[in-house]
Amino acid sequence: MIKPLIHSMAVCPDMTKTYPKITHGKGIYLYDDKGKRYLDGSSGSSSVSNIGHGREEMVEIMADQISKVTVLPTHAFNSDVVESYLKELTDFAPEGFTKAWTVMSGTEAVENAIKLALQYHQLRGDNTRYKIISRWNTYHGNSVFTLDVGGMKMRRGLYEQWLHNFPHISPAYSYRRPAHLNEAEYVQELLEEFENTIIKTGPETVAAFIAEPVIAAAMGAVPPPPNYFKGIKYICEKYGILYISDEILSGFGRTGENFGINNFGITPDIIAAGKGISGGYFPLSAVIASDKVVQPLVDTKTAFLGGHTFACNPMGARVGSKVLEIMEREQLVARSKRMGTLFMEKLKSLYEFDIVGDVRGVGLQCGIELVQDRITKTPFPASMKLSKVIGEKAIQKGVVLYPGSGSVNGVDGDHILVTPPLTINEEQIDEIVDVMRDCLKEVVSESKKLTA
Ligand SMILES: Cc1ncc(COP(=O)(O)O)c(C=O)c1O
Repeated sequence: MIKPLIHSMAVCPDMTKTYPKITHGKGIYLYDDKGKRYLDGSSGSSSVSNIGHGREEMVEIMADQISKVTVLPTHAFNSDVVESYLKELTDFAPEGFTKAWTVMSGTEAVENAIKLALQYHQLRGDNTRYKIISRWNTYHGNSVFTLDVGGMKMRRGLYEQWLHNFPHISPAYSYRRPAHLNEAEYVQELLEEFENTIIKTGPETVAAFIAEPVIAAAMGAVPPPPNYFKGIKYICEKYGILYISDEILSGFGRTGENFGINNFGITPDIIAAGKGISGGYFPLSAVIASDKVVQPLVDTKTAFLGGHTFACNPMGARVGSKVLEIMEREQLVARSKRMGTLFMEKLKSLYEFDIVGDVRGVGLQCGIELVQDRITKTPFPASMKLSKVIGEKAIQKGVVLYPGSGSVNGVDGDHILVTPPLTINEEQIDEIVDVMRDCLKEVVSESKKLTA
C-alpha cells in the first residue's frame, strides 16, 4: 500500500502539519469542513479579501463574463470591458496617471513596473541606467528577480548565488532607530545613506527606487517617519531616478487612502498594485504609470516590452471594475481610515503586556512587534518562533492573523500583521483584539512556567 503523504499539498508552508480545510467564506468569516468559523483578520494572504468573502454580486458578474469572453488574443484585439476598466483604474490613481495594464500577481506587477522604468530610460537615451535601489527587510515578490530587488534575507537564502545585482539601503524603522537620534535626525541619516548609496553606485547607473509605503509582511506594518518619503522623492528627482511605489499590499484602500503613498504627500512615477485590486475573486494585479513615464513610449511609438498570456484579460477587468464599484458604493476607503483609527486604539490596549514593544500601522494595515524587554527592545530568540506560536493559538481560537519574523535584522524579531477586510465593524475588531489578548496572556504564562 502506498503510504499517504503527511500533507497532500506540495507547497503548503509546513509539510508536517495538518491544516483545517476551508469550505467557504462569507463576509469577514471563513468556515471549515467541521463547521468551525474563523474571522479572517488577514484577508487571505494579507490584504486580498478587502471586500470580504462570498459576495453574490461577484458570482453574477463573473458568470456573465464567462458566458461572454474571458481571454483575448491581445496581439489582435482590444475590448470595451478592458478599456473602460483601465480608465477606472487610472482615475482611482493619483492625478497624472493615465496608462495602466493588468497582469496576474503582485510579483509580475512589480517586475513589469521595473521593466517599464528601464524602458523609460533607454528610450530617452539613458542606456547606462539599470540598477534598482530598494531597502532591506522589505518584500517585493517571489520571482528570483523580485527577491533580489526585495530585501528579505530568509526568503533570499536559497537563491544567494543568483542574487546581489542591486544595492539596498536601511528600511525606515523609527521604533528601532539609534537611541541618540531623534526622529528628524534619523530621517536625515536615512536620506544621507540613500544619497551616498546613489553616489557610490554611480547615479548614471540607477534606474529606479522602489518601496512599500508601509512595510507590511516583512516587518509588520511599519510606517515611515515624517518627511522620509518626501526626502527620498527629492533625491530621486535630483538624480533622475524613477520612484516606484509597491502598492501590492498597501493599495486599494488598505491604509485609508486609495494608495498607501497618498498618506505621505508625494506622487510616485509608477505604481504596482495587486491583492485587494480584485478582492481575491480572480488573480489580478496592475501597473499604473504616470504621463512622465509613458511619454517616451508615446513619443517614439514604442510598445511596452511586456506581454503575458493573461495580461489585460476581460475577466480580470470585469472583476476589478466590480471591486472598484463596491468600494465606491460602500465607501470602503473612508471606512478603512475610520476603522483603522479605532483598531489602533484598541490594539494599544495590548501594551498591558510587557512583551508588546510596538503597536503601529496606517488605516487597516496594523501590526504589533514583540520583545523580551520593552526598554532594551531585545527580540525573542528566533528559535522560539513566537509569532508563529501566537498565530497558531489565534487560529485555534477562531481568528486568522498574519505572523511574521525577522523584523529586526531579517532573522530576529517577531511581529503580527493584522489586515482584516475593509468591511470590518467594531464588534469584529473587538473579537480580533480579544483573541490577541488571550494568546498573549497564554504565551506570557507559558514562558513564566518555563523560566520558573
Ligand atoms: C509589498 C508586496 N509586493 C509584492 C508582493 C508579491 O505579490 P504576489 O504574492 O501576488 O506575487 C507582495 C505579496 O505579499 C507584497 O506584499
